[in-house]
Amino acid sequence: MSEKLPLAIVGCGGMGHRHLYGLAELQRAGLSPFELVGACDPNLDNAHSLADQAEERLGTRPQPVKDLAELASVAPVQAVDITTLPAHHHTVAIEAMERGWHALCEKPMGLTTRACKQMIAKAQETGCVLSVAENYRRDPVNRLAKALLSAGIIGRPRLMQHTTMGGGDGMLISVWRHQKNASGVLLDVGVHFADIMEYFLGEADTAYAQTRLHEPTRKNPVAGRDVSSGSPGGVYERWQKDMPAEFTATADDAAYATILFKSGAVAQYIEDHAAHGQNLWQRSIHGSLGSLELPGDRSGQRLTLHRDGADSINHQALLDLVPDHRLDEATAALFGGDQLFDYHLPFPEIDRKLIAIEYHELGTCIQKGRQPEVDAHQGARSVGLSYSLLESQIAGRALSVDAVCNDQINAYQAEINEHLGI
Ligand SMILES: NC(=O)c1ccc[n+]([C@@H]2O[C@H](COP(=O)([O-])OP(=O)(O)OC[C@H]3O[C@@H](n4cnc5c(N)ncnc54)[C@H](O)[C@@H]3O)[C@@H](O)[C@H]2O)c1
Repeated sequence: MSEKLPLAIVGCGGMGHRHLYGLAELQRAGLSPFELVGACDPNLDNAHSLADQAEERLGTRPQPVKDLAELASVAPVQAVDITTLPAHHHTVAIEAMERGWHALCEKPMGLTTRACKQMIAKAQETGCVLSVAENYRRDPVNRLAKALLSAGIIGRPRLMQHTTMGGGDGMLISVWRHQKNASGVLLDVGVHFADIMEYFLGEADTAYAQTRLHEPTRKNPVAGRDVSSGSPGGVYERWQKDMPAEFTATADDAAYATILFKSGAVAQYIEDHAAHGQNLWQRSIHGSLGSLELPGDRSGQRLTLHRDGADSINHQALLDLVPDHRLDEATAALFGGDQLFDYHLPFPEIDRKLIAIEYHELGTCIQKGRQPEVDAHQGARSVGLSYSLLESQIAGRALSVDAVCNDQINAYQAEINEHLGI
């Protein structure tokens, strides 16, 4: 077996721990090319927590360190997994690549399109792999949807509807997700949906949106209490109890948008994290021959194909329509088959399997000199598309998504760039 690649997790909060669970999942499957040598976080309690859990799950203890300089002095690192707060993604990634380390970076790739451009430039200059950890498209059910679209099963896509509504005035996981200068929800969650839209429909062309900050005061119901909040992966409670019971939100929390794609397809997009009453989820793609009704990402639920004059299909027969469709080696090994139309797993397990796939791909890219599927260009486009909605609200008109991606339109982001000093 080839030598293991020395890896460090940089950012040992909620997602850092979830990534560790993903790495352990990959190791259990016998597919890990990595040895975890470092747990890096300026909050050393978090770094030690991750190192302790790594020892339990991986059998070896990474060194807890406070920054990349200390990391370089304790271990011969070849790759970092960046799970810090979004405001630090570009500084950590750029410093890592300057040290010659490859990087897997959590979404949003950078806090602004300008931060993303700096990361792209550094990846080009150093030749390091820079992969963006976009997990939703890796869901086996989304892979099947993509295969059906590519095979023309619903004809030419005309319209995508995406609606996600809920949240009321509650805190979404953490305070920073409601702060414009730290990554508000329309960026933090929006990049996932931006990636999914471009995955299914190709590059976006223009976007028009109304965005709002509906709930300027957010509430944290578990402040001061040792109770489960049902947070993703069950990992955030220990930090949430120390967050304030009530705080001021500065980032817009709802977007109502129309997005035109270069293919001519249109998306009607609603992302409302402040909705009261009924929670809504809908994602569907409507083409010239039929439509696809898509389930929530990471749910394992089935998609449904509707075609004129035929029964709806949501079972094995979907696979017969795309006989050449195969999941990649890691996905097939982790989810138990290379052709799937559903799966039945608890969320923490789904979560860690998808992260394991991201790690596996990173290892392959490093070892075989390949480009990652969600490379810096694609990761940056998701940031640009998400900001296109916020920039459109300020401009009062539809905007070119390319112009936002290229940092030519940046009025909304100006304050954030100033805050970052870029
Ligand atoms: N893909 C997904 O499904 C998903 C889910 C949750 C979070 N995320 C992403 O993961 C990232 C982290 O989110 P989180 O929920 O873990 O946040 P978190 O607040 O729980 O943890 C962030 C951690 O980063 C640390 N940190 C801050 N500055 C740092 C620096 N310069 N170097 C190293 N560590 C630093 C903090 O001390 C903290 O421990 C964000 O980009 C978020 O969008 C992705």
